[in-house]
Amino acid sequence: MHKQISTGIQGLDAILYGGIPDGSAIIIEGAPGTGKTTLGVQFLYEGAVQADEAGILITFEEFPEQIYSDMKSSFRWDLRQLEKENKLRVVGLSPDVLLEQMMKPDGLIEQMIHEIDCKRIVIDSISLFRYFTAANDFEERRVLYQLRNILRKFKLTSLLLQEQSDLNVSHVPFSHFIVDGVIRLSVRPHLDVFRKRILEVVKMRGTRIIEGEHTYRITDKGIYPLNAAQTIAEHHREAKDKISTGIKELDHLLDGGMDRGAVYMLDTNSRANYMPLIGSILSERLSSQDHLLTVLSSTQTVEELDTLMSRHNIELGKVINEKRVHFIEHYNRQVPSGWEKAVYYVNGLDNEGYDQFLRNKCYPLIQSEISCETKWFVYYDLNTIISERGTDYVLRSFAKEAAFARSLGMTVLVLCNFKEVGEQVASFLERTTNGVFKTWVDGSNQYLQVTKASNGQLSEPYLLESTKEHPFIRLI
Ligand SMILES: Nc1ncnc2c1ncn2[C@@H]1O[C@H](COP(=O)(O)OP(=O)(O)OP(=O)(O)O)[C@@H](O)[C@H]1O
Ligand SMILES: [Mg+2]
Repeated sequence: MHKQISTGIQGLDAILYGGIPDGSAIIIEGAPGTGKTTLGVQFLYEGAVQADEAGILITFEEFPEQIYSDMKSSFRWDLRQLEKENKLRVVGLSPDVLLEQMMKPDGLIEQMIHEIDCKRIVIDSISLFRYFTAANDFEERRVLYQLRNILRKFKLTSLLLQEQSDLNVSHVPFSHFIVDGVIRLSVRPHLDVFRKRILEVVKMRGTRIIEGEHTYRITDKGIYPLNAAQTIAEHHREAKDKISTGIKELDHLLDGGMDRGAVYMLDTNSRANYMPLIGSILSERLSSQDHLLTVLSSTQTVEELDTLMSRHNIELGKVINEKRVHFIEHYNRQVPSGWEKAVYYVNGLDNEGYDQFLRNKCYPLIQSEISCETKWFVYYDLNTIISERGTDYVLRSFAKEAAFARSLGMTVLVLCNFKEVGEQVASFLERTTNGVFKTWVDGSNQYLQVTKASNGQLSEPYLLESTKEHPFIRLI
């Protein structure tokens, strides 16, 4: 896979999980005034300033002078200065001259590329090729192919701006097939009086994307996509139901807590002491009257959970009597008397039998209680499922179970060692979950980082410190 390069537009990099693939050709399409030119110039400006990558802006539509003054007055981008530093060239010419010069060995464009060691190019706009080729489809395709091949030859990362001529979105223009990515900008009426700007990644080879419509603004710093949480607020949707982890700082990182009905992973290994985290989250759930379903692991017994909960002032026996806790047990271990009613023994069940147990026993129980407004929290160690049921079973069933949990509004926390399960399984799991916390030990310190969250934001690594008082840990 190609390395990704920052677009220089923070929110867009987040949507693209880092940026656009190096050397790719991306179409930016949109109606007049949606900000195509702004986005293109921002890509070159930030590329030069932040990444020290030189760029060329080819404009068919405006005079360079006009662009200098527009960009200076709208965004305070000093393009002339960048030209002086050999970080930028702004070239105004016609489509036919561009092609002619690009095709020619040692033509104007090639010279310029070498002169400034150019890495990025923006063409504003390729729609004009259509006029130039007299709307002859065949001719237009040939020209676009040529253009793309030349860009490849020079290993340039390019943004090709394009007027969205066809409002019929189901019609895919030919140009979209030959490029590596398409980003669409549009403006929609919103609440009668407002207009809402929307950015959508329609296609992007070689990188994951955050799908869907992202609200963006044009500010005096250029294009500014809002993050997912802001977008939701913007859509006037009801704020998501948040549930506390019991750890103030972690709740804060998650914009108020975990999302009810979402699936989270805690990526950890046996060296990291993750039990205080689990203790805080589970006890917080139980004291909020949630119901808990947990799969016991080889290293975790009912008694240990009892000890952990009592530290947080939760009497497990009492909650069991209230029928609020259920255990799935793979190891046929004894439990204190009176607690058997909370335990489902699944040792001896093969994978098919286990599936049947989930479908016929477990899910109906949850469903029947959900209808009486019960909130469920599910916690288990995925390594137990992997060692008892196999990786294939997990790959086959995890996404399905996650979808089921979400549909019932159950919140799920899954413990997993990403390193141990291997890169491929880990990336599958990460994609399937709504959030990932990672905790690890380095030297004598333990750290915690939110590496995936619904607000689209990756946190800094925080030091996990134990404290004397409830919840016995804090992040610093
Ligand atoms: N500082 C600013 N703050 C907010 N909005 C701005 C600012 N500067 C420019 N704009 C808005 O940005 C838009 C200009 O976008 P831009 O020229 O990049 O669009 P475009 O898609 O290239 O349009 P066209 O197809 O006409 O070339 C205008 O609607 C303008 O009102
Ligand atoms: Mg423009």
